[in-house]
Amino acid sequence: MYDYFLGGAHNFEIDRQLAEQIASMTPNLADTMRAGRAFLRRAVRYLAAEGIDQYLDIGSGIPTVGNVHEVAQDANPTARVVYVDIDPVAVMHSKSILDGNEWADAIQADLRQPELILDEARKLGLIDLSRPVAVLLAGVVHFVPDADHPGDVIRTLRDATVPGSYLVISHSTYEDQPQEMLDAQKLSARTATEITLRSHAEIAGYFGDFALVEPGLVHLPLWHPETPGDVDEHPERFGAFGGVGHKAG
Ligand SMILES: C[S@@+](CC[C@H](N)C(=O)[O-])C[C@H]1O[C@@H](n2cnc3c(N)ncnc32)[C@H](O)[C@@H]1O
Repeated sequence: MYDYFLGGAHNFEIDRQLAEQIASMTPNLADTMRAGRAFLRRAVRYLAAEGIDQYLDIGSGIPTVGNVHEVAQDANPTARVVYVDIDPVAVMHSKSILDGNEWADAIQADLRQPELILDEARKLGLIDLSRPVAVLLAGVVHFVPDADHPGDVIRTLRDATVPGSYLVISHSTYEDQPQEMLDAQKLSARTATEITLRSHAEIAGYFGDFALVEPGLVHLPLWHPETPGDVDEHPERFGAFGGVGHKAG
């Protein structure tokens, strides 16, 4: 469904039907998914301009339209990208899309096991943790319930990086949201992918001692908009915050 909302070609009839139903009930939800992906692309363009050439993208989904490896390798053809997702179908699709791309690969793993992810990424030989890296957590931390201690998981990832590294997070929030979105998220509680909405302060806390790049943790369209299409009159309707943190050094 996510792929369909983003305009990709890696979806099935059942996904399309369900996505259309959801879009007619909650137009803001589909817009939020697109705004989330647009935020991620802008963040990667920013990081590439800062000289980052390796990306660990956890909860990557299907690398469809304008994805991380395309944006990163557009700026630097040998930029390394490791995609990580818990969903075997997303990983399978990712691997087939990346076939022949010697600088990008995908692995199946759970964000809640960060050491395992770091080990697997090292084994692939694509990510060198002795050099600055960007850890991308776009639209994924809200799938980790409080009981699984997302703060500890993210600290492990932060601690594995050297100064000069970056952390990108986008995360759903209950702050400022239209009721329609809150209802949609309540519906997620009935599926296998329940979402935990969090406050601005909780999400900002995930950056730890990484300094937030200007303009900080903001509603998605407000982070470094590049085109008129990125801007929105009511940025709060997207129901998610995005930010980029930098490890000083
Ligand atoms: C909303 S999509 C976000 C895709 C992409 N990062 C983006 O921003 O466009 C969330 C992805 O996170 C994955 N996911 C959910 N829980 C996860 C976990 N515990 N570990 C790894 N991936 C997870 C889902 O399978 C899904 O592909």
